[in-house]
Amino acid sequence: MRRHLPDVAATEALAEQLHSVLPADTAGWTLLLEGELGAGKSTFARALISAMGHGGAIPSPTYTLVEPYELPGRIVYHIDLYRISDEEELRYLGWTEMDDGFRLVEWPDRAPGLMQAADLNIRLSYEEDGRSAEFIGLSPRSDDLLALLDAASTTERQD
Ligand SMILES: Nc1ncnc2c1ncn2[C@@H]1O[C@H](COP(=O)(O)OP(=O)(O)O)[C@@H](O)[C@H]1O
Ligand SMILES: [Mg+2]
Repeated sequence: MRRHLPDVAATEALAEQLHSVLPADTAGWTLLLEGELGAGKSTFARALISAMGHGGAIPSPTYTLVEPYELPGRIVYHIDLYRISDEEELRYLGWTEMDDGFRLVEWPDRAPGLMQAADLNIRLSYEEDGRSAEFIGLSPRSDDLLALLDAASTTERQD
């Protein structure tokens, strides 16, 4: 599934649509946000965390590597791997312990092994004056999600 995102609002709307089709229980889910600097990874992540019910600031996890959020019905771990140099460092980040929540990972290219462990990869790119998003399902349970998202993001929103 691929979408053109002409402006920031379109990126944020897509994140909100993804939230609207997520299962109630997302413990153990991993979503990767791939794309070069400025592609819109943090924009998408912040819109998703806001849609999940977070009202306050959403600091970049660039230095802390992980920013946890306790939200209604789920824990979210906003993770930025830009500064890791070795996949082994995931262990020190407590990757395995984070399976009680929804892992949202920027710069997953730093740990190529994550492709096998993740559910969904969202690849953001520059396109014309805006961006594009390509959704790549990586697990069987993400297939249902992508079908729902495809329907939700092609239909005019009724709310
Ligand atoms: N669909 C879009 N069209 C145009 N600009 C966008 C879009 N999505 C995000 N941006 C802008 O691109 C810039 C970089 O976004 P950001 O989310 O910080 O990128 P990244 O985290 O991938 O480095 C921001 O100024 C943001 O407002
Ligand atoms: Mg960023």
